[in-house]
Amino acid sequence: MSLSASVTPARSLRGRLRVPGDKSIAHRYALFAALAEGRSELAHFAPGADCRSTLMCLRELGVEIEDGPDGTIHVLGRGFGQLRSPRGPLDAGNSGTTMRLLAGILAGHPFPATLVGDASLSRRPMRRVMAPLERMGARLEAVDGHPPLTIHGTRLHAIAHEPETPSAQVKSAVLLAGLHADGMTTVREPAATRDHTERAITAFGGRVSVVGTTVSVSGGQRLHGRRLTVPGDFSSAAFWMAAAAALPGSRVEIEDVGLNPTRTAMVDVLRRYGARVTVDVAATEAGEPRGRVVVEHDRAGAVVIDAMDVPALIDELPAIAALAAHGGSVDVRGAGELRVKESDRIGALVAGFRALGLDADERPDGFIVGRRRGDAAPAGGVANARGDHRMAMAFAIAALAAQRPSVIEGADAVDISYPGFFDTLARLVFAADGLGAP
Ligand code: S3P
Repeated sequence: MSLSASVTPARSLRGRLRVPGDKSIAHRYALFAALAEGRSELAHFAPGADCRSTLMCLRELGVEIEDGPDGTIHVLGRGFGQLRSPRGPLDAGNSGTTMRLLAGILAGHPFPATLVGDASLSRRPMRRVMAPLERMGARLEAVDGHPPLTIHGTRLHAIAHEPETPSAQVKSAVLLAGLHADGMTTVREPAATRDHTERAITAFGGRVSVVGTTVSVSGGQRLHGRRLTVPGDFSSAAFWMAAAAALPGSRVEIEDVGLNPTRTAMVDVLRRYGARVTVDVAATEAGEPRGRVVVEHDRAGAVVIDAMDVPALIDELPAIAALAAHGGSVDVRGAGELRVKESDRIGALVAGFRALGLDADERPDGFIVGRRRGDAAPAGGVANARGDHRMAMAFAIAALAAQRPSVIEGADAVDISYPGFFDTLARLVFAADGLGAP
């Protein structure tokens, strides 16, 4: 099913809110809870379809999971190497994290399992996890490097892996396999990526060594069930942060959001754009800092992002691109990885922004977006999310700047990470016609 949403122009965005649980952290907590011994209770679990895919796959692998009230889930861990052979294919849906991280775990189990995905996931590259897992001793099959991905797991041996592209999913897949392997597995990354896997291993009672961008784990450990609370998803908060930075008179306060330093580089980008941003870490739980972010509009400037900034901003680039609809410009280079996300995000962003009446140009590894020469505001129009949750949200934030209502086709893609996104938008917005928001 593909639903459209209509977005009316906005004067400003004001309010205080929480965002859904972090998708990256929730995937990892569910996986480690399954590999641990004993019960885990995971509160504020990410409600989106991606993390549901992880839970469904784990259930197929024999893990008992109960949904409690208020978004808490209960997981009865089976211990390392104790997953059960599934009866049929495991459906990862739209979720690259589910497929790649589970591949690492299944590589260390002595049965074959096939991971399938939706049309988008079936186009995404899997060689990046297949190659290291094969070096560890598993046998993997795919269709020209794309899903369905069949893993013939085995007893693994440790490797030292140096991925060519920085990727937290690849790092995590190899570390998860490493926890099932004989010896010490090391991943040396070309640039730092989100480190939730490393922090989660420690939180579940395991050992991991981190020296710069080199991470090592040894097999033969035991993890223990835990009670943990998933912080709000910074990458979801990013859309409200961008809107508040961009619209004059805006002030948005986001509570209890994850503030892991490998995820918060957008704060600096918003300051460069001209916004006032304050960040307060209120607590660190299970190694994950969390707290409050306040963003207020001040000025709209030019933002340039190059290859060095990209790994720490990879999921925020669509939200950052939307800034340019409101004034200033956004110029992104060295971000070729965007082409292999849930959609080709370079092609999708440029097409969608043009449809909304902006000037947007594609490069092989990035894009540049700004207002059309002489335009006070983009005209508005019909933008297609191409089944990608972050495209739907980026177009919605850009459409707030337009002269007339816009339509986001495929807006229901937001359910992947942010069910309720459009309800929250309606609550926060002061409409350009003076109506709306409390
Ligand atoms: C993720 C890592 C990133 C990110 C994705 C989630 C993770 O992907 O884009 O949304 O949870 O590890 P890559 O590892 O492919 O860069």
